[in-house]
Amino acid sequence: MNLKKPIDVLVAESAESGEGTLKRTLSNRSLVALGIGAIIGAGLFSLTGIAAADHAGPAVTLSFVLAAVGCAFAGLCYAEFASMIPVAGSAYTYSYATMGEFMAWIIGWDLVLEYALGAATVGVSWSGYFNKLLHEFGLEMPLYLSKSFAEVDGGGINLPAIVIVSLLSLLLMRGTKESASLNNFLVVVKVAVVLLFIGLGWKFINPAYHTPYIPENTGVYGEFGISGIASGAALVFFAFIGFDAVSTAAQEAKNPQKGMPIGILGSLAVCTVLYVLFAHVMTGLVPFEVFKGDASPAATAFKVTGYSWLQMGLIIAILAGYTSVILVMLMGQSRVFYTMSKDGLLPKFFSNIHAKYRTPWKTNIFFMVFVSLFAGFVPVTDLGHMVSIGTLLAFSLVCIGVMILRKTDPNRERPFRTPLVPLVPILGIVVCVYLMYSLPIEAWIRLAIWMGLGVAIYFFYGKKNSVLGKKNNQG
Ligand code: ALA
Repeated sequence: MNLKKPIDVLVAESAESGEGTLKRTLSNRSLVALGIGAIIGAGLFSLTGIAAADHAGPAVTLSFVLAAVGCAFAGLCYAEFASMIPVAGSAYTYSYATMGEFMAWIIGWDLVLEYALGAATVGVSWSGYFNKLLHEFGLEMPLYLSKSFAEVDGGGINLPAIVIVSLLSLLLMRGTKESASLNNFLVVVKVAVVLLFIGLGWKFINPAYHTPYIPENTGVYGEFGISGIASGAALVFFAFIGFDAVSTAAQEAKNPQKGMPIGILGSLAVCTVLYVLFAHVMTGLVPFEVFKGDASPAATAFKVTGYSWLQMGLIIAILAGYTSVILVMLMGQSRVFYTMSKDGLLPKFFSNIHAKYRTPWKTNIFFMVFVSLFAGFVPVTDLGHMVSIGTLLAFSLVCIGVMILRKTDPNRERPFRTPLVPLVPILGIVVCVYLMYSLPIEAWIRLAIWMGLGVAIYFFYGKKNSVLGKKNNQG
């Protein structure tokens, strides 16, 4: 039997207040800041260069637009759910209510690719900029400690990536009280850096580097031309991941009915404008071929402006920005596993709360190790692809969920309605599937293996231990 969690129960749970519940402290503006905090990171500062060098050239700006359009469709669907079921747990919870336990498990398991591997990816990029910073100080880390053997010949382990992931996991275990104000601060720094880059870099744009704007296709699918723009979009899609993190804070929003759509769609809109301008400047500063294999292209490009005194500040600010993304991703991951464990689909280990710090500390330790292994040994491009394909799958399922709920529960109050249903969800699915299609076959194979593993775990463990399932059997 396919069990569904009643929405009324979910909403009633979220409406509880007082001791032992989450505080509703986040204003609409904080929600937008939260979104931007989770969004701007490695996608912009690292992948833009790779997408330009390998796929789209200067037209990487169009890749950003294409990815943003896909995200906007999915974002509109997220907004309907998040305002209607303002509960932590995001896509996992929405599917539990609409498509039943099995699909909820699938999404929850899939979200590991988004959050845990997302943290690993940004950790590797963090390491790239960290090495750049050391270089500015005239220091060099040996290759076998700064890059994984899978990334370069002579590499070994990506130690800086492991260290940052571990430090942030430890911080999360200690509690996250100051995280909102810290996040606000980091967002200001991050956005300031992006604006500075655009503003100062603009007058150094060399139009020759933008001609032709769409380089001719090499004859290989995904290498420049129109197919290159699509492949580039599949890669830079990563830069938008995180807007859905706003929905995990639904239970802490002052006014989730209004705040969720504003937070989700507002942060998406702000970031899209910034990204397009940023990419336009970046490919105008140096020939895009220069970015091949460069893990810190923003710094490379900015060098030509001659503002060398700003170079250091740029790198430090980018590192700070990455730090907030890793933190939010690790936190999101622990919340999703915490919720799944509460529902009985995962062992109790994952919902164990530390007596003093009141955090799911065992989950944090588990993911500290898990994420470190990926961050330490897997190349950033492979990681980025895995994160994108996993997230695109989750987005598609959320789009499907909106259509299902409009049929099965048409009269429920919807503070925010996705416009033009079923057109918008269908377009969301089309764009997401198209972007998935543009990803390399290896990403598909890995996705299939990961999901196969998930299905096996569900049938051997989750199905038997589900709290809802046990209740139903008793009743
Ligand atoms: N969107 C986030 C980033 O680009 C994951 O770092």
